[in-house]
Amino acid sequence: MRPSLSSAALQDWNGDVLVVGLLKDDAGTSRGTLEQRFSGLGSALEQQDFKAKSGEQVVFNLLDPQGPKRLVVLGLGEPEAFTLTSLRSAAAKAAKASSGFTGSLGLQLPWDGFEPNAAAAAAAEAVRLALYADQRFRKEPEPRRLPEAVELIGLPSAAEAGLDGVSADCAGVELARQLVAAPPNEVTPKVLADTAQQLAKDHNLQLTVLERSDCETRGMGAYLSVSQGSDLEPKFIHLVYKPSGDIKRRLALVGKGLTFDSGGYNLKVGGAQIDMMKFDMGGSAAVLGAMRSIAERRPAGVEVHMVVAACENMINGSAVHPGDIVTAADGTTIEINNTDAEGRLTLADALLFACEQKPDAVVDLATLTGACVVALGDEMAGFWSNDEVLAEGLQGAADTACEGLWRMPLRKSYKDGLKSKLADMKNTGPRPGGSITAALFLEHFVAKGTAWAHIDIAGTVWSDKGRGADPPGATGYGVRTLVNWVCNQAA
Ligand code: BES
Ligand code: MN
Ligand code: ZN
Repeated sequence: MRPSLSSAALQDWNGDVLVVGLLKDDAGTSRGTLEQRFSGLGSALEQQDFKAKSGEQVVFNLLDPQGPKRLVVLGLGEPEAFTLTSLRSAAAKAAKASSGFTGSLGLQLPWDGFEPNAAAAAAAEAVRLALYADQRFRKEPEPRRLPEAVELIGLPSAAEAGLDGVSADCAGVELARQLVAAPPNEVTPKVLADTAQQLAKDHNLQLTVLERSDCETRGMGAYLSVSQGSDLEPKFIHLVYKPSGDIKRRLALVGKGLTFDSGGYNLKVGGAQIDMMKFDMGGSAAVLGAMRSIAERRPAGVEVHMVVAACENMINGSAVHPGDIVTAADGTTIEINNTDAEGRLTLADALLFACEQKPDAVVDLATLTGACVVALGDEMAGFWSNDEVLAEGLQGAADTACEGLWRMPLRKSYKDGLKSKLADMKNTGPRPGGSITAALFLEHFVAKGTAWAHIDIAGTVWSDKGRGADPPGATGYGVRTLVNWVCNQAA
């Protein structure tokens, strides 16, 4: 699927499926042009009581061999309420309305009021990502007929540059979706390491994988304790993107990589979604997807370190007991009062390792707490940061990506909830404010003076029904935000 800017205007566009979005009270522009071009359209729309309300859609299959074979008119609602997110959703709808046609899709939306590059990128990405379907696990995949070309109609030619990163970004999102959606008997810690290996090979990145014994030598006792009840070997993955030329900024992306979270002896029971815990590696999928895209886009001046402490949280005779005390790589002792708060144990050693790379900023992504889902639902990830510049940069990157992100407080006094009678810390505090104590636990392992942000993606990693431009299932949340954030810092 190739996205491009159409050289033809709305009245002359002659591909297969033409989709036009109309805002309410649009008396002049697109509607007028359309009605001139397709005689009878005005009365047809009136007959169908089309009011350009948001969500309205009228489909015309046309018989003129010279013109488009299908015309789709989308209602987009009030102009004031039409945001970049609405634009993405409209493009996704257009993509779905073109199903069955293998030729070209022409898309005219109300672009005015958006930065042209951003609008072009958002629409092109949304079309591709809306048409994503995962048939890897079917005996007989259904044949799919997708548009070969997508042409954006009515954008200024300067918006062409907005399309530059689209293919790389979508490939990153698709990689993340595939990793998250694949079952836990398929995506194991070794498969995450192999995926990093493949990226390293394809895009000239540097890869180090620490085996269990290497991690023991480094004293990563918090991470290894999570893995010790699993038959699968842990893999500690460090993938580095180095641009040619001077390095101005060094960044680290850390992802939680639990390929399955049973809860351990604090087993997930009674509605705790144990059957969904394949998605507990969503953080690692997002950082791998981001590296895939960054490696292709090759931003100048920024070095990017990706760190994933991959393992499974399982139960056997060697599994960690509730109550065990373990020691992280910096010597901090942790009383594991709940084996289901395992992500933060793996991230403790991952953050310590990431900070050893002396980054200017570290961002971690993790499906960390059910409490974050209770707080924010599944359309917004929560984020915590110790640094205002980083927080603003991330928020801006997420806004451009149309990925919901909401800042949460690092309330210091809540750290008291993690006090242990025996060890330096417990891994779990009280239930109220559970996503905040989790963030405070992580902050303990970030080197003093390092800008850090934690993004809890427990709600956003998956969407049962699909949302906006995302089809149901794994969303690939975080990839676009991270890539935007990294590329915004390019020299
Ligand atoms: N992976 C889960 C968090 C999670 C829960 C993600 C539901 C998505 C949906 C995490 O490891 C976990 O089990 N967290 C516990 C922490 C608690 C024991 C303090 C939780 O949220 O219940
Ligand atoms: Mn857990
Ligand atoms: Zn988990």
